[in-house]
Amino acid sequence: MALIDNIPALIEEIRQLNANNAEELETLRIKYLSKKGLVPQLMGEFRQVAPERKRELGVAINNLKTEAQNRINELRQKIEDTQEITERPDLTRTSYPTPLGTRHPISLVREEIIDIFSRLGFCLADGPEIEDDWHVFSSMNFPEDHPARDMQDTFFIESHPDIILRTHTSSVQSRVMERQKPPIRVICPGRVYRNETISARAHCFFHQVEGLYIDENVSFTDLKQVLLLFAQEMFGRNTKIRLRPSYFPFTEPSAEMDISCNICGGKGCAFCKNTGWVEILGCGMVDPAVLEANGIDPDKYTGYAFGMGVERITNLKYQVKDLRLFSENDKRFLEEFISAN
Ligand code: DAH
Repeated sequence: MALIDNIPALIEEIRQLNANNAEELETLRIKYLSKKGLVPQLMGEFRQVAPERKRELGVAINNLKTEAQNRINELRQKIEDTQEITERPDLTRTSYPTPLGTRHPISLVREEIIDIFSRLGFCLADGPEIEDDWHVFSSMNFPEDHPARDMQDTFFIESHPDIILRTHTSSVQSRVMERQKPPIRVICPGRVYRNETISARAHCFFHQVEGLYIDENVSFTDLKQVLLLFAQEMFGRNTKIRLRPSYFPFTEPSAEMDISCNICGGKGCAFCKNTGWVEILGCGMVDPAVLEANGIDPDKYTGYAFGMGVERITNLKYQVKDLRLFSENDKRFLEEFISAN
């Protein structure tokens, strides 16, 4: 029987064709579509058929050719798809170990300071970094001509000289006093800015924690006790403190607090310049003029305040010698704090 009489069966056969790889597919292509394949053979027979059957068989051969092309293309796509899948990454494989980040030493120490003071009953308070002259200076009893207002220390906006970047967190004292009545017991961590040349010992921004306690009958003894507890929690039970008279516009009397050098244990080393002591904070009794300026009756209330630099405390705890390391984010430096995290 001539092939041409069997076109429906051949089409059915073509629809069932299968190939598992490119090689098998090529064999099929040759069998059906190449120059000596089935389609040209049918065309050969087609030339012999009676004219009245030409129309019907011409359409049938064309159909068969299209079916063969479609099936072979379909199989080619299937083979390509499975190849792609085997080349794709194995999503079920265990991932490469991702290095974990570490918390920044400044964050670690700030959290530790907050933790110690919250155990002593202090609440957190916050204020803006972009401040006005009133909250940073005037409300804190800085005289008009005080050198700290000097433009060399303070970043200000030329067109708005009243708006500045806060130079200390003492501004938050004023923010708290204007929205809260005593008793007030807050600590205020935050970033501060000063127009300093960046070096190993100074930076144009750093971090402070401010403390403020206002109530009836708050005394210098209370201040001293809280600071002693803080120093011993932070630097160890054997840490000693000493208070030296000092001056701040917003406290009277004022003091600076030293702790026994935690690096040499007080014997004297390069870090404490052989004195056995290192300064860690400023403090004092809130000046009655500050209470008054912030709407608190100085005849009824007294208070103490203190302020410390977080970088300074971190330097002491971890002996970091260059302040710039804190803001460079060098991974090698940060990774040294993995065990403290
Ligand atoms: N504001 C001071 C500074 O930036 C630190 C300070 C000293 C804060 C004494 C206080 C304080 O609250 O009582 O140097």
